[in-house]
Amino acid sequence: MIVINNVTKRYPDGFTALSNIHLTVESGEKVCITGHSGAGKSTLLKIIAGISPPTSGSVVINNTSLNPHNSSLKALWRRQFGLMFEDHKLLFDRSVFHNVLLPLEIIGAHSFKQCAQKVRAALDKVGLAAFEKSLPATLSGGEQQRLCMARALVHNPRILLIDEPTANLDADYALQISDLLLGFNQLGVTLLIATHDQALISRLNPRCVGLLQGHILP
Ligand SMILES: Nc1ncnc2c1ncn2[C@@H]1O[C@H](COP(=O)(O)OP(=O)(O)OP(=O)(O)O)[C@@H](O)[C@H]1O
Ligand SMILES: [Mg+2]
Repeated sequence: MIVINNVTKRYPDGFTALSNIHLTVESGEKVCITGHSGAGKSTLLKIIAGISPPTSGSVVINNTSLNPHNSSLKALWRRQFGLMFEDHKLLFDRSVFHNVLLPLEIIGAHSFKQCAQKVRAALDKVGLAAFEKSLPATLSGGEQQRLCMARALVHNPRILLIDEPTANLDADYALQISDLLLGFNQLGVTLLIATHDQALISRLNPRCVGLLQGHILP
């Protein structure tokens, strides 16, 4: 369970992007964060992921509190999540296989053989098993997005934090992504997704949490 308790985020320039956010997400739940551009959706996901510290308030997952000032605890914190964020780009000079391997290399907990098995299992889940030797630039937009998903999933996270998963995808590719996300949720993975995409929302049938200028809509 994720508990966001009275979180406020003020950026260094003084702009308050989130004000007094309270939100609880149960394990296995599907939640979409909606709201206009600039409402604070990405800011909220980055705070939960431990990428950007809240100015005040707390984030607690399964009774463990995020401590933004302890870097080793922060690294452990991040392993709970699979992240698909707009600014987490693919590495275009490495193969599909090595893009998915990267998070495991950063964690450094497994042998290469174990890592390779995990990478192939993740590529299989998103239907890219045949592309492991390809370079990302040779994949379509939808395939690149599925590659991002494999990279987010490779360490078997229980929670996926996803920012605009279907942005810039045509309807067919967006549907593939929606169905993959639904499949992971059916296996028990908690989904927390920032999106404007009404088609994705209809397909996922999530609980929707609206943000307006940094406040949660009642
Ligand atoms: N690093 C930063 N420094 C200052 N202000 C920021 C920073 N990052 C975001 N903001 C501001 O905080 C507000 C919320 O930004 P955020 O990226 O969370 O919005 P969003 O809801 O994800 O929007 P979009 O739908 O366009 O992605 C915006 O007004 C944005 O300009
Ligand atoms: Mg955003």
